[in-house]
Amino acid sequence: MNYYLTQDTTQTGILTMGGLDVVSLVKRFGTPLYLMDEAHIRHQCQWFTREFKHPQLETEVIYASKAFLPIAMAQLVAQEGLSLDVVSGGELYTAMQAQFPMEKIYFHGNNKSKEELQLLLDAGVGTLVLDNAFELDRLVSLLQPQHQLKVLLRVNPGIEAHTHEYIATTKNNSKFGLSVFDPETLNVIAAIAAVPQLTFLGLHSHIGSQIFEAASFDQHASAIMAYVNTIHQTLGLEVQAINLGGGFGVRYTADDQPLEGADYLHTMLESIVRAAQTYQLKHPKVMIEPGRAIVANAGITLYEVGNAKTTHAQKRYCFVDGSMADHIRTALYQARYTGILANRVHDAHEHPYTVTGKACESGDIIIKETLLPHPQPGDVLAVFSTGAYHYSMASHYNRLPKPPVVFVRDGKAKVVVERERFDDLTRFDVKDAL
Ligand code: LLP
Repeated sequence: MNYYLTQDTTQTGILTMGGLDVVSLVKRFGTPLYLMDEAHIRHQCQWFTREFKHPQLETEVIYASKAFLPIAMAQLVAQEGLSLDVVSGGELYTAMQAQFPMEKIYFHGNNKSKEELQLLLDAGVGTLVLDNAFELDRLVSLLQPQHQLKVLLRVNPGIEAHTHEYIATTKNNSKFGLSVFDPETLNVIAAIAAVPQLTFLGLHSHIGSQIFEAASFDQHASAIMAYVNTIHQTLGLEVQAINLGGGFGVRYTADDQPLEGADYLHTMLESIVRAAQTYQLKHPKVMIEPGRAIVANAGITLYEVGNAKTTHAQKRYCFVDGSMADHIRTALYQARYTGILANRVHDAHEHPYTVTGKACESGDIIIKETLLPHPQPGDVLAVFSTGAYHYSMASHYNRLPKPPVVFVRDGKAKVVVERERFDDLTRFDVKDAL
């Protein structure tokens, strides 16, 4: 379960990552600290690129940047040859700062503003993932004769993915996209195809996140291919590409059983080839958009233990110097995590503790329950699998500055996001407004 226990650790009893012991990294960079194993991120990018292939299909892997997107990450993704999914002007701006190739960007979102649409047109973004007819009108009102944009329409095939309600996205009442069961959706497709500056590329659909069942992905691919056939039959339009989104689950605790190997990807591609044969359709290009599966297991968060407390009702708390501001997933999704005392790896981890932070709220839980040795002030607590949706979902609640992000690789550490200071927190406050 402890992903980064190496031989060094066995000798010293200190957790290591990227060839460096984390206690010295904590001395150098302070706590809380987001630490990421750069080699692991690159390995995941390469794995998806290698495995998401089929001899009869053109394929593309797009990194879902909402999981984690400092400039360095956008640069890494460009180096590894993946495309990029962005969902806001801010994510697009970050990609621009990283000089990410604009033609490899997919711009998503269910409520893009006029400013965001203008920015993506000006920047030369390759593909827009259109959500609805209103957005099409808004886009058309901004188009100039010289603009050229590929468009995927986000559709909802009504697949029930078994995951947390907040991260399941294609149930029939989801806010995203247009239903394949609504006849009006075909009119929107026809309207896109009729705009000279737009190329109707095809469909996008994403069934949810942290999914462990291969059958969900398969069912999804089949449902989308059935709709590709409907479009062909009714509008005579050939769908050139389908983007099946992300959602590939990862392990946070020993109870999680993510899909092993790449069979589920191959099966998904195979079912697309089969459906194309059945419906006698040209093979579409197929894309996926993993976010979590690229970065989650590459990250750990390091905290310093301030104290431990046993309540009158005998509940044991371990207090650390972070909070729900840097770790919101436990409070928001009841997510479960594993922790370890990184400076005392060999001590028996046998006492149940709730790890909590310093935010002024009882819901400020980092790990609901994990086994630890009795923590001492100054111990370093590591929480595993925090590479996705942690830094990107961090807030300033209680005016806590955001931790830095450090990449480690081959014995070297690189700061990719600096630690915020108090003056960063007040930078936008107007002192003489009253
Ligand atoms: N594509 C689209 C259109 C998406 O909406 C998402 C995630 C992805 C790809 C990437 O999904 P992934 O491979 O990372 O599962 N904050 C939540 C997750 C929200 C995911 C939203 N969309 C969490 O911390 O679990």
